[in-house]
Amino acid sequence: MDIFCRDVKPFAPPTLTEIRYWLAIIKEHALLIRLGLPCDQTELSAEAQQYIDVFADLERRSSHLGDDRELFCFAGVASVAAKRIFVFKRRILHCLLECRLPGSCLYPLFVDHLSREAMYFVKLLGKLRYGYMRCPVDAIVSENVFWLRIMTDHLAFIRGMIDPSERILGEQAASLGLTFERLTLRARDLSTMLWHYRPTDELVRFQRELVQSTTELRQFLIAAETLIKQCSAVSTIHPALAGHYRRETEHFLVILEMIREYLSCAPSSPGDE
Ligand SMILES: [Fe+2]
Ligand SMILES: [Fe+2]
Repeated sequence: MDIFCRDVKPFAPPTLTEIRYWLAIIKEHALLIRLGLPCDQTELSAEAQQYIDVFADLERRSSHLGDDRELFCFAGVASVAAKRIFVFKRRILHCLLECRLPGSCLYPLFVDHLSREAMYFVKLLGKLRYGYMRCPVDAIVSENVFWLRIMTDHLAFIRGMIDPSERILGEQAASLGLTFERLTLRARDLSTMLWHYRPTDELVRFQRELVQSTTELRQFLIAAETLIKQCSAVSTIHPALAGHYRRETEHFLVILEMIREYLSCAPSSPGDE
């Protein structure tokens, strides 16, 4: 099930570490949007800059939180900011879909991708107020769908931004992209097959495969980021974007570890529940 589905919430807990991770990520989104806008779009560019400042300020404030009550209040403020940037991203997406931003370097799917990540953050923060999903397996299978689509998108974006002369790098991205497309399709199948059910051995095996493939993806992204930063590979990928994709992949690995830990002690048959 998709993160836009009303009942879907992240599997990850709304801890301070998770919230701080997302504040940094969403701040980078505002920067990436500002960098990709056409230079004549001064109003949208100023709005993107405002979001950079808002999220930088929230990041600063998040390092001075004392107790759970303060975290709860802070999450309310962060949630308002996250909802606003979600709306901003959707507005830009709609402009792109209607060709109202000629000369933009932003793919519509890229902006849609950024809005899905903002929605994930909104829902993560909402867990503090509205609680968790009733069936943990629903949260796990939805988490897989969310992150696998994100990883697949990253590879498609990278493929489109690597210079055609960089054949080996392009082929590596394409091959990993195929792997992640297949994993995404399988995750979607499992997300409906196991909905309101329980973890199965197939899910446990699938989670192991995800760790393996995502670790491989992480290695590829580390190598690509190094090449881009050293200017040893030609592409239109901004070094900040390469680092952003790598950090999101590393975060997916952290979540996969949380899921592995949960599954290692979850009931394995209906009678155990
Ligand atoms: Fe992102
Ligand atoms: Fe992303």
